[in-house]
Amino acid sequence: MVIKNVELETVCGVTSMLPDNKLPEVAFAGKSNVGKSSLINALMMRKSLARTSAQPGKTQTINFYNINKEIYLVDLPGYGYAKASEKEREAWGQMIERYLNTSEKLRAVFLLVDIRHAPSANDKQMFEWMAYVGYDPIVIATKLDKIKRSQIDKQIKIIRQGLGADKETIIVPFSAETKQGRDIIWDFMDQVIEN
Ligand code: GTP
Ligand code: MG
Repeated sequence: MVIKNVELETVCGVTSMLPDNKLPEVAFAGKSNVGKSSLINALMMRKSLARTSAQPGKTQTINFYNINKEIYLVDLPGYGYAKASEKEREAWGQMIERYLNTSEKLRAVFLLVDIRHAPSANDKQMFEWMAYVGYDPIVIATKLDKIKRSQIDKQIKIIRQGLGADKETIIVPFSAETKQGRDIIWDFMDQVIEN
C-alpha cells in the first residue's frame, strides 16, 4: 500500500469507551519492549509517530492509527511489564482483553516475539487465544538485526516450538532498524483490506 495519510485517531485508556470503527483493524500484541510501536512506525513509514522507548511500559493506552482512511493499525500496551503494580497490570490486561474480545472490526492479530528469546508463558497464551478465537496466527520475530544471519533458522525453530505452533504457522523475521520483513507484513494487511 502507498501510505498517503496517517493519523493517530483514537487513544483509549483503561476507563475509555472503545471506538466503534467502520474500517478494518489489525492489532499488534506482545510483551512490553518487544517492538510493537517500532513496527507500527516502520509500517507507516513514520519515524516516531508511535512513541517508543528503551524502557518497557511505554505504550499504556490502545492507540488507533488510521491509514489512508482504509485500515487501522492498533498499538496495544505490552504485557508482562514488571515495574507496573499488579493492579495496573490487571487493568491493562483487562483493557486489552476487552478490546480483543469485543471489537467488531478486528480482522487480524499479529503476535510479536523477540527473535533472540524463547517465547514466554504469556506469549504462548496469546498465541493459543488467537488460534482459539479463529484468527490465523501470524507471528513476527522482532529485532532481527540483533542476531547473526546464521542463527535465524535456529531461533525461528525455538519460537515455533515454544509457542506450540505447527509448520504452517507463518513466522516473519522483522527488523525496525533495517525494515527487513516490512513488505511481507504489508502483504498480509493488504489481504485484510481486500477481504
Ligand atoms: P511497550 O510500548 O512498552 O509495550 O513496548 P513496544 O513493544 O511498543 O516496544 P518499542 O517499539 O517501544 O521498542 C522498545 C525498544 O526496542 C526501543 O528502544 C526500540 O528502539 C527497540 N527496538 C524495537 N524494534 C527493534 C528492532 O527491530 N531492532 C532493534 N535493534 N531495536 C528495536
Ligand atoms: Mg509501545
